[in-house]
Order: sequence, then structure tokens, then C-alpha cells
Amino acid sequence: MQNPENVQNSASVIASAISGQTGHTPRPRVGVVCGTGLGGLADALDAPDAPNAPVALDAPVALPYARIPGFPQSTVASHEGRFLFGRIGGVDVVLQQGRCHLYEGYPPEDVCMGVRVMAALGIETLVITNAAGALNPRWDAGDLMLITDHVNFTGRSPLTGPNHDAWGPRFPDMSAPYDAALGRIAMEEAARLGVRLERGVYAGVPGPQMETPAETRMYRQLGADAVGMSTVLEVIAARHMGLRVLGISCLTNKNLPDCMREAPLEEVIRVAGEAGGRLTRLVAAVVARV
Ligand code: HPA
Repeated sequence: MQNPENVQNSASVIASAISGQTGHTPRPRVGVVCGTGLGGLADALDAPDAPNAPVALDAPVALPYARIPGFPQSTVASHEGRFLFGRIGGVDVVLQQGRCHLYEGYPPEDVCMGVRVMAALGIETLVITNAAGALNPRWDAGDLMLITDHVNFTGRSPLTGPNHDAWGPRFPDMSAPYDAALGRIAMEEAARLGVRLERGVYAGVPGPQMETPAETRMYRQLGADAVGMSTVLEVIAARHMGLRVLGISCLTNKNLPDCMREAPLEEVIRVAGEAGGRLTRLVAAVVARV
């Protein structure tokens, strides 16, 4: 179900809390969602430009989800649970450190609440990141993948139920979910920075159990290069509202049917943390060109 009243309430609470600290209504142009272990993306953020702030700011302004009535709390220990407002290369940015997943028991509208709220605050571009298992056998743990397309294997949609026409159409187009021009900028900046960036299709699954060998083989045969438990519903909501989307996966483990290995959460977080510096530099370079 779509939940415009909750989204509007959350956006109002956020706008007044942030303007209390910065002296002006937040007007972010870009929203960034941090995947598991990728909260270090916040390192790319400078303090907001806030000449009228009651107290001079030298760091991004944070607002924990717990201070936003009705906003779903992430129950995953590796997810911080707060919005950060700041700037990257002179561009006003809001960053979502921590997200909700279907496997936590949240319905699709709660999973997408962060993206809906960031859109209500004015973002035009969404940069969405995640930790994922590599299905493409040529890739290694620690590689980054530009998401060129996705398959929604969750069986759910944030658009089920009556449509909120002010957000977008009943049957939104999904022929180009990931923005090609942003993807080209990401490839250019990756080359300039010397960061290896693969390109591929992300399979979004409900989780929380990892894949069996037979499932891994199936997702690969059905056209996916990486598999993870987030992103696809948020991208559907973002496209519903006409946002431009850049998606990047951090491949934290190899997920190959003929040599399956366990990929415990600690390893996912460790590898994401190691790759995080490269992802942060790449995202900062792309956002500065948005
Ligand atoms: N499968 C599903 N989700 C994941 C994986 C995986 O192999 N790695 C990180 N998130």
C-alpha cells in the first residue's frame, strides 16, 4: 500500500528538525542509501552550507530515525538508522545510513519509506548501494558493480493497492530503471580514479536465508550477475516518482553453485568495509557531477 500521509508527516518532522540546526529548510538534490557495511559513505559528506545556523556547523547534521514518529526502525545491527544532511562537491545531499528490509518483517511501503521521504524533501537523483553476492564467476569479493538492470524476485511491489497519483502513474515504466547517463558518469569516474567497476544485473530476493546451490544456479541462468536482499523495491518506488537512479553493488562474496561457501554477516560487513573507501570516492565523484 502507498502511504502518502505517513511520508508527508515524516518529511515535515525532518524538515523542521534540520532547519532548526541549519537555519533553512533542507533542499537536498541527491539522496544516497547506504547498504550493509557501507555506512562509511557518510565520509563523503561535508557540513551543509548554513550561514544562518544558530551554531556554526563543521559536520553533517544527523537525525536518527527514532526521532521521526512513524518512521520504521532498522532492526539490523549493521545499520545505523539515521539521516545525514550535508554536501558533496557543493551539491546538497541527504544520506540514509541504514535501511529496512522485507526480511525484518516490514511491508514494502516501510521498506521504501526512506526513498519516498527523501523525494518529498526534494531529491531528483537517488544513489542506491547494497552488499550483494557475486553470481558472475569472473568477479571477486570486494569488486564493485554498476547495476544496469534488476530482476525483482521478492514477489512484492511498493505499488500494490490504490495508486497515489501525485507520486506517479498507476503503471510506471520500467524499461530503463537505472539512468544510463549517470551510469556513464560512474564508469568515467571509476576509470579516472582507478577503481574497478563491473556492470551487471542485480537479483533482489526476500531473504533472510542465503541461497541454496540450486537457487544460485537458477538466478544466474535467469540473467543475474549479483544477488541481494534489498534495492529492487526502493528503485521501483523511485522510478514511480520519476527519480533518476544510480545503483552500485559491493560484491562481498562469491556465490557460485559448484563451489558454495558460507558468507556470514561478519564477512559481508568486513568485505564491504574494505571496499567502502573505493565506493565512497566513486560516489563522491559522481555526485559532484550530478
Ligand atoms: N546472497 C544474498 N544476499 C547477499 C549476499 C548473497 O550471497 N551477499 C551479500 N548479501
